[in-house]
Amino acid sequence: MRARSSQPHEAIGYGRQYVDQDDVDAVAAVLLGEALTQGPAVARFEAGLVQATGAPHAVAVANGTCALQLAYHVLGVGPGRNVLTTANTFLATASAAQMCGAAVEFLDIDARTGNLDLRALEARLEQGPAPRGSTPHVVTAVHFAGLPCEMEWLIALKRRHDFLLVEDAAHALGARYRVEGKWYRVGEHPEIDATILSFHPVKHVTTGEGGAVLTHDAARAARLRRLRSHGTDPESALLPFDAEHAGPKPAWFNPLIELGFNYRLSDIQAALGASQLKKLPDFLEARREIALRYLAELRGFTLPHPGELDEHAEREHAWHLFVIRCQPAEREELMLFLRERGIHTQVHYYPVPLQPWFRERGDARAYPNAVAHARSCLSLPIFPSLSDEDQGRVIAALSEWRRARHAA
Ligand SMILES: Cc1ncc(COP(=O)(O)O)c(C=O)c1O
Repeated sequence: MRARSSQPHEAIGYGRQYVDQDDVDAVAAVLLGEALTQGPAVARFEAGLVQATGAPHAVAVANGTCALQLAYHVLGVGPGRNVLTTANTFLATASAAQMCGAAVEFLDIDARTGNLDLRALEARLEQGPAPRGSTPHVVTAVHFAGLPCEMEWLIALKRRHDFLLVEDAAHALGARYRVEGKWYRVGEHPEIDATILSFHPVKHVTTGEGGAVLTHDAARAARLRRLRSHGTDPESALLPFDAEHAGPKPAWFNPLIELGFNYRLSDIQAALGASQLKKLPDFLEARREIALRYLAELRGFTLPHPGELDEHAEREHAWHLFVIRCQPAEREELMLFLRERGIHTQVHYYPVPLQPWFRERGDARAYPNAVAHARSCLSLPIFPSLSDEDQGRVIAALSEWRRARHAA
């Protein structure tokens, strides 16, 4: 999967998909078959997700944002039932809740990791209902960059304060963490109410666009399946209105049970996803190998890794992103310096509560750690096909920049 070298001087992005001939053949088989959508490939992909995560139910949808919106919807997020989450995340973690009619309350991050600061969460939960909203109904934990949040602590808080827990694992398919002595894959812990995944091309496995909700609750899974397909349920025994159809239910009748959406994943996408999932262990290993080399060769730039954070290594990183930090005043210059050398980096993330839409409606709270992180962070290239040579180019460019800076 990882070549030693690549085409010389091709631009290197911060993330990209890995697609091989098996993936192409899997997609071609669907394209030449009967069903491009609503066929058997989606259930096969979902079975693969169940196997890969250990979550009992997986519901595949059109993208990670739909997955969040449907997860919030089935958990009852709506007016007066608010969501509490981290300031350092992608827009959709919050906007999907707003789209359900809820308000989002943001909390600052742990400066070391970029994840939600659980001390801040604990303080907020102990304070009770916020002045402008109700007691948080849902807490959404985002495993930033692929590093799990402190899940044992978070689950203890859930037991004490009785909120619903959503795991936004868009960055973290394949990550693991330990709770009360036992290791869990993302989506596997039974006290998590919903886990969402994204299959955008920069993620661990891709379907082009795609997402999924993982849950332990069969009734929730059935409702998610209904909601992704207009709110209809072909299995329902409900009959058409007229006496002519007094029963049994005609096969053509697909009863509308509640108002829903068209958030389906197509069979074309699902076939790609199922084929990609077979490579997940190799993808994770390749990302880990790249991360370990960066950690060894970029000392002084990097965030602490799990071994440094937890004495007993309570979590296993999935390395979706490799984030470094530099001096805030130098960040734009460093980005440009790397870009001139064909290395494209990205900022993860500008704090969501400071986005114009949220700022206009915000509570004027400060997010000092999220702001400091946003000013100094830079995501370096990390993806399974990043060659040794290209990674060497990234490391050499950073060393060159550091030397030039120190010489100045
Ligand atoms: C943390 C997080 N949550 C949710 C999403 C939304 O996923 P999608 O792009 O598939 O809609 C993303 C996408 O990048 C993300 O990074």
